[in-house]
Parts: sequence; C-alpha cells; structure tokens
Amino acid sequence: METPSPSFARVLPSRAIPLFLLPFLLVVIYLVVFSNDFKLHEVFGSSACNNGTTTSVQLADAYTAKPPVDLRVFLGVVTRPDFYERRALLRLAYSLQPPPARAVIDVRFVFCNLDKEEDRVLVALEIIAHDDILVLNCTENMDGGKTYEYFSTIPRLFADEPYDYVGKTDDDTYYRLAALADTLRNKPRHDLYHGFLTPCHQNLAWQYMSGMGYIVSWDIAAWISATEELRNDHDGWEDAVFAGWLRKGGRFKNVYGEEPRMYDYLDREMPDGVICFRHELMADTVAVHKLKDRLKWARTLKFFNATQGFKPSKMYHVDLYNLYRV
Ligand SMILES: *[C@@H]1O[C@H](CO)[C@@H](O)[C@H](O)[C@H]1NC(C)=O
Ligand SMILES: *[C@@H]1O[C@H](CO)[C@@H](O)[C@H](O)[C@H]1NC(C)=O
Ligand SMILES: *[C@@H]1O[C@H](CO)[C@@H](O)[C@H](O)[C@H]1NC(C)=O
Repeated sequence: METPSPSFARVLPSRAIPLFLLPFLLVVIYLVVFSNDFKLHEVFGSSACNNGTTTSVQLADAYTAKPPVDLRVFLGVVTRPDFYERRALLRLAYSLQPPPARAVIDVRFVFCNLDKEEDRVLVALEIIAHDDILVLNCTENMDGGKTYEYFSTIPRLFADEPYDYVGKTDDDTYYRLAALADTLRNKPRHDLYHGFLTPCHQNLAWQYMSGMGYIVSWDIAAWISATEELRNDHDGWEDAVFAGWLRKGGRFKNVYGEEPRMYDYLDREMPDGVICFRHELMADTVAVHKLKDRLKWARTLKFFNATQGFKPSKMYHVDLYNLYRV
C-alpha cells in the first residue's frame, strides 16, 4: 500500500498541536472565567452557590498553590433593612478589595426581623442574589440589646465551624480586610478585644472599643452567648456596655487599640480639625469611619485604589484624574 493519503498527512500535524495544548488551554480559560467569581466568593461566600464555588476554589488552589487559610473572621455590618443603597455600595467596595492572603473574612449585613412588606420581599431578593445577610431575632426599634443579640447568635449559628474572631462594624465604616487580617494574624486567639480604644489618649477605667468596629475572639462570643444575664445588662451606650461585660467577666485581657490605623474620616474641605480619632486618609489604614455620604465613600475608595481596575473603552469617557481641587 501507499503511505497515508496526502490529505491525512497534511491534517495530522496541524490537529496534533491543538489537541496537545487542549488541556492547558482549558485550564487557562477556566482560571480566566472563574478568577472573578472566585474573588467575590471569598468575601461574600454564597451558600446558594457552594456547590460550584467549592469546585472552583479547589481547582484554582491546585493551579495557583495558594497558601492555606489560617485565619477566619465573621464581620457583621450592623445596618437597617431599608438602607439598600448603602448595602450596594458596601458590597461593591468589599468585593473590589484585594482578598486577604491566607485569611477568610466573611462580611455579612446584619439587622433585626423584617416587619415591612416591601423589605421582606426586597431583602429576600437580595439574599437570593448575594446571600450575605443575617437577620437576627429582634425588633429594629429595640432599646438596646442588639449587640447582645448579635454576639450571642453567631456562636450558636456557626457552632459546627467556629470562626477565630467575630467582629461588628457600622455601615459607615470601611475596613481594609487585608490590613485587618494582617493585624489579627499574630494576636492571641483568646480574650482578644480589638478596635479603636475610646476616649483616646485618656487612660480611663471605662475605655471601650468605638462602635466604628471591633473584633473579639470566638471564646468571648461563646461566653456572651452562654451568659444569658448579659442580655438585660445594657444600661448605657451599647459599645461601652460591651467593654463593661468583658471587665466584669475578667476577659478584658488582650486589648489592642488600633490607633492611628482606625479613625474618623477627614478631608481638607471639612471644618473639623485633626484630633486623636480623626485625620486624613493614610496608606496603612485598617478602618475608616464616618463615611456618611457618597462623596466621602468616593474619595476613600479612590484613595485606596479601588478604581485601579478601571479600563478605557469606546463605551464611556470617565476622567478619574482631574476630580477636585482642594
Ligand atoms: C452538588 O449538586 C448536585 C446537584 O444539585 C448534588 O447532587 C451534589 O450532591 C452536590 N454536591 C455537593 C458537594 O454539595
Ligand atoms: C424570637 O424571639 C421571640 C421572643 O424572644 C421568641 O418567642 C421566638 O421563639 C424567637 N424566634 C425564633 C425563630 O427563635
Ligand atoms: C495606590 O496606587 C499607587 C500607584 O500604584 C501607589 O503609589 C499608592 O501607594 C497606592 N495607594 C494606596 C493607599 O495603597
């Protein structure tokens, strides 16, 4: 017989190369397609998508050899059901942050039971889409006690898979999760109380972590959960009362004030001056507070380079460089 037909001989080499490269190409395509999804789910992990997420995380891990997670934090943003715009902004802000290395920080929105028809439906839709909301069994107008409800609920909800730390923050605070993870990583995992100690620069017996945001170790949350009498001990400002619980319980031990890396927002257009809890944005920030309006959020996110991924396109012209003169 003759050698293989010329057509076969011609076809073989050009087919053989793509076939040989196919597994490699699939991996590249897979990583490109899932890298975004992957990043979002680390911050706003969605149990609705757990099935797919698990696979993509495992595969991505296999190909990028990410170091294993050694720190897990549950961070609750205490807000109100009808603050839809603020939640949208916070989701955007946290999902565009570079994910912390070797840490998982689950950012979740927290509020009391939904008593309005529109909120029940609209929040249910948000949960379908994002699955990042925790509804506590309390009423929004309750006079104190929301902090107890929050810290006592988390250990019960996640008893099977405890976090290392549980945090609570305001909806006008922006935590930088990688910086937070780095500062928590080498701290004790028991009796830890981390945040911004206020009043600052005054060594008072009743100093407490400001409501801008604070983190406690899991054992403290579990202790709160198991100490039912604290539920009715909320005479005063909740965040100050919280520190009182720790003192009374002998757990005011590993106390870490993060000044000046946590602070209230200030820019030069504001009449306020610099004081120990307020200054202009700085690079190694852990958290900024008092982001009360869109302009403050915009300037903060710009400062922390959240717009860095913005690409030119024929679809728009947005000048991010000549924004304002102060
Ligand atoms: C993933 O989903 C499929 C179909 O819904 C289900 O049969 C399977 O048990 C799920 N796997 C995991 C790990 O949850
Ligand atoms: C919510 O709290 C109320 C009042 O304390 C209680 O009666 C009810 O059983 C709680 N609901 C759930 C689902 O735990
Ligand atoms: C933002 O990016 C610029 C350019 O890469 C860099 O010089 C600057 O330090 C970054 N700012 C912050 C707050 O990380």
